[in-house]
Amino acid sequence: MRATIMDGRALAAKVQAEVAGDVAGLGDVGLATVLVGDDPASHIYIRRKHEAAQGVGIRSDDRRLPADISQEELIAIVEELNDDDSIDGILVQSPLPKHLDEAKTIEALDPAKDVDGFHPTNAGLLYLGRPALVPATPLGVMRLLDEYRVQIAGARAVVIGRSNIVGKPMAHLLLKANATVSIAHSQTVDLGRLTTDADIVVAAVGVAHLVAPDMIKAGATVVDVGMNRTDAGLVGDVDPGAAERAGLITPVPGGVGPMTIAMLLANTVKAARARRVANPAG
Ligand code: GUN
Repeated sequence: MRATIMDGRALAAKVQAEVAGDVAGLGDVGLATVLVGDDPASHIYIRRKHEAAQGVGIRSDDRRLPADISQEELIAIVEELNDDDSIDGILVQSPLPKHLDEAKTIEALDPAKDVDGFHPTNAGLLYLGRPALVPATPLGVMRLLDEYRVQIAGARAVVIGRSNIVGKPMAHLLLKANATVSIAHSQTVDLGRLTTDADIVVAAVGVAHLVAPDMIKAGATVVDVGMNRTDAGLVGDVDPGAAERAGLITPVPGGVGPMTIAMLLANTVKAARARRVANPAG
């Protein structure tokens, strides 16, 4: 059996076309990004986010701050964006330089503009089963599962990885969709015993090719969130041989990656809509 490939590029294009229609209907939507310092990967991500925003008609405000900015100065900029009515979404690119406190910075965001879904209010609402703004990567995985009509209710799902950005919100979204969810991590003993029983495996742990073909149940859905830079190039957390056993599988690249930016744009529209409902005169 050879798995059907879940095409994240095609679905991201479809989501972006939907978002462009929504933006046209809303009139003006603004996204601000805050990038501190000169991490090369972050510069690439921010550039892609702005290109994508412009592609769907979202006005974007690109704040570049020096690596030695103080915590107080950074929070003052976040607060200025919170108070700016022309800005619907704010994103502080991670990682921040070591001397800055990421949690404190995210807590300074207005939760209604937190298009990354990282603020404790948004994380808490997801935990309570009342998702508001949800992190873009797990949201993109759910959209992929929906597009390919994967049965989630009653399915056994294993999420490998427990990060706040992917693993934890992913597990909560699957739980809300009525899967039976296990969360595996670096201390999990005998990972294969869990995954061989799973109908859905989401690998988001950052270990190249950790998930071997014999760890996958025949016909299972396998979603690879991993992006590991190796001598052989960019590879996922799942061994490509798993495609011989899975029913559906995402490629790396071209699977979850393109969905992340598309869902960030969808979150920006969601925030813009909610803000207009909350404040129709604004
Ligand atoms: N760094 C890596 N991924 C992300 C993300 O999704 N959002 C932000 N803000 N920073 C990141």
